[in-house]
Amino acid sequence: MSDVSAGFREVYGTDPEGVWAAPGRVNLIGEHTDYNDGFVMPLALPHTCRAAASPRTDGKLRVHSGDAPGGVVELRVDELAPVAAGGDRGGWAAYPAGVVWVLREEGLLSGAAAGGADLHYESTVPTGAGLSSSAALEVVTATALSDLYGLGLAPQHIAQLCQRAENDFVGVPCGIMDQTASACCTEGHALFLDARDLTQRQVPFDLAAKGLRLLVVDTRVKHELGDGAYANRRAACESAARALGVPALRDVPAERLETALKDLASLGVDDTVRRRVRHVVTENQRVREVIERLDADDTRAIGPVLTAGHASCRDDFEISCPELDLVVESGCAAGALGARMTGGGFGGSAIVLVEVADADAVAKAVTEAFAAAGHRAPRIFPAVPSAGARRL
Ligand code: GLA
Repeated sequence: MSDVSAGFREVYGTDPEGVWAAPGRVNLIGEHTDYNDGFVMPLALPHTCRAAASPRTDGKLRVHSGDAPGGVVELRVDELAPVAAGGDRGGWAAYPAGVVWVLREEGLLSGAAAGGADLHYESTVPTGAGLSSSAALEVVTATALSDLYGLGLAPQHIAQLCQRAENDFVGVPCGIMDQTASACCTEGHALFLDARDLTQRQVPFDLAAKGLRLLVVDTRVKHELGDGAYANRRAACESAARALGVPALRDVPAERLETALKDLASLGVDDTVRRRVRHVVTENQRVREVIERLDADDTRAIGPVLTAGHASCRDDFEISCPELDLVVESGCAAGALGARMTGGGFGGSAIVLVEVADADAVAKAVTEAFAAAGHRAPRIFPAVPSAGARRL
């Protein structure tokens, strides 16, 4: 692993004041539920975005990434403007710039804190793989600046600020899951989050102790329709909630699903939107089932719930793709306990729950199925539940 402090020295010619890290994530269950005020259950990966940083006093924000070409991006804190308002997106630099913008907008930058900062990043979170490399970049930035400026921001507050940076500065209408996972996860746990009131519970998820492993399969494909489709799914859910007269689809309990679907049909709401509703309502229920099974120390029993979640993402929410479906089919056929796509969909990664003893055979079967279908070889690695953002 390259030394991020050395990288900082090379770029800026001085030692950084500190080094921080924030992880990527996979989501165990609860997909496209966060912006419906529902439940999610992510866990942090050992892969992190690391930032070496020092404060400045002249109002300049300088950012540099060891992973992106293009050298140092220099911006002025007082001139930062959202991308939609004509601000310069500057590629990856829009994420850290958005974080500084939101701190400024929230009145958290005054006095010395308005002076800017130098940051150098290095990341091991695969990009474009649906593993929240952008959330890791945002959260490591906010965590570093909170410490550098003595802002004392709590992890959940950092997640909310970073979500606002992504929504309002970068212009991506994401929910709160990824930033919360990166900021708040703890080693050996999955994080149960209620996306409405932001209450959290760290749920023990020590797979190794149970002879189990969670594989991440990065399909290395990213289908282009993803961005517009995310906003489209979100709009469909919000319109259905309005039609049902509830604040969010979270407010439709599983017992009321059939009635709600009939009500929507009689209001002339089309079959596609009704299937979106069915996904969200049943997915929230699946999060509860996974929690119950983990609380009962019956980890193997979550497998079928994960696979059912995939079917719902594929058929009702229509956010899967042939490569993700192939991971689930070939993984389960080779003996996995359960598998599903994870994250926003349309490519990216899937997770596969396996007995440790079967892990290699399942990984081999998935890789062979990809080769037989003419897909690029997937990248497969274990998801070890890891710590959230921290100073190193
Ligand atoms: C992306 C978004 C999250 C969440 C997931 C789907 O990762 O950033 O907020 O909506 O998709 O569960």
